[in-house]
Amino acid sequence: MKVLVTGAAGFIGSNFVLRVRETRPDWEITVIDALTYAGNRASLAAVENEITFVEGSIADAELVDRLVSANDIVVHFAAESHNDNSLDNPWPFMESNIIGTYRLLEAVRKHDKRIHHISTDEVYGDLELDDPNRFTETTPLNPSSPYSASKASADLLVRAWIRSFKINATLSNCSNNYGPRQHVEKFIPRQITGILDGVKPKLYGAGANVRDWIHVDDHNDAVVAIIEQGRLGETYLIGADGEQNNREIIALILELMGKPADWFEHVNDRPGHDLRYAIDSSKLRAETGWRPQYQDIRSGLRQTIDWYAANRDWWEASKAATEAVYTRLGR
Ligand code: NAD
Ligand code: DAU
Repeated sequence: MKVLVTGAAGFIGSNFVLRVRETRPDWEITVIDALTYAGNRASLAAVENEITFVEGSIADAELVDRLVSANDIVVHFAAESHNDNSLDNPWPFMESNIIGTYRLLEAVRKHDKRIHHISTDEVYGDLELDDPNRFTETTPLNPSSPYSASKASADLLVRAWIRSFKINATLSNCSNNYGPRQHVEKFIPRQITGILDGVKPKLYGAGANVRDWIHVDDHNDAVVAIIEQGRLGETYLIGADGEQNNREIIALILELMGKPADWFEHVNDRPGHDLRYAIDSSKLRAETGWRPQYQDIRSGLRQTIDWYAANRDWWEASKAATEAVYTRLGR
């Protein structure tokens, strides 16, 4: 199978390519990535002789048309992915997440290919802390931030192309990923690399916000399961029953890194900060048999901390620029 992976110099896409090189060695992989601030070719260094890497934007219609026509399936990770950035400057989110997805859909339609669209649980908005319900595939879309609104827009485009043009497509909406090769702007790597640099973790507001954490390899194994076993036209929610609030995550990181439990500081909250995400992944589990391999966030975080400690070269260059943005934003 010839597979075009968009955004594979980023966190989840690079882990996807590394993983399927092991689990699906017969897949021929081509990558398209614009190498924005979030893209890092070093993430693919271990397989660079085994894949084709094309630097370019998914908003480039001619390039997308050529690459889609030469492959069997598009696995679509490319996006602007950080909420704080979308609150600062929404435009890149509109261009990459909405226009870029539109370009891919039109090429998939023209050449009669398949697309698997990667999305997020954030399209469903947020839940109260004591709400017994979790998100399911039928939860109405209710995004809060420019980022999540742009992802919900892309999801709606994919659904419309399925319904109106009968394209071969599947969608998945996953909860918060953690693991190696995540940009240092994100919550967990920001704190780990900060501690490695002697800086206290930064907690937005009171830190009661809950995220439903999943290891990136579990997310990517679910994506492979949907590609191979998912029903065309369907949406699947991906989650590993990993709800933790932000205070609990910081406490665990501090413990694992040998720091006192109170060695963190509160900073300004994110405007419009979603309170809680929680995923019911029963449909995915029932239809594909997928189960998360990382049952225990403690062991997954241990592996993640060890990776950042051993790979300073990978993150050091972007750390200062990232913290300069946070200083400007007051967070
Ligand atoms: P990331 O920011 O680490 O990587 C995004 C990659 O896309 C980068 O390599 C970047 O260069 C590339 N890119 C951005 N705009 C592009 C464009 N116009 N053309 C080509 N490449 C472009 O993001 P991530 O965390 O790996 O997220 C990947 C996907 O998974 C996104 O669609 C995101 O919405 C989704 N998702 C992320 C999470 C999470 O917890 N990180 C959870 C659920 C879903
Ligand atoms: O739910 C899936 C989403 O998870 C993905 O769609 C997004 O691409 C991904 O970035 C992530 O979004 P969040 O906004 O939840 O992730 P982030 O890492 O930015 O923040 C996680 C939580 O931690 C959130 O409640 C904000 C908080 N936070 C974040 C940072 C960077 C802090 O308390 N301190 C921080 O320094």
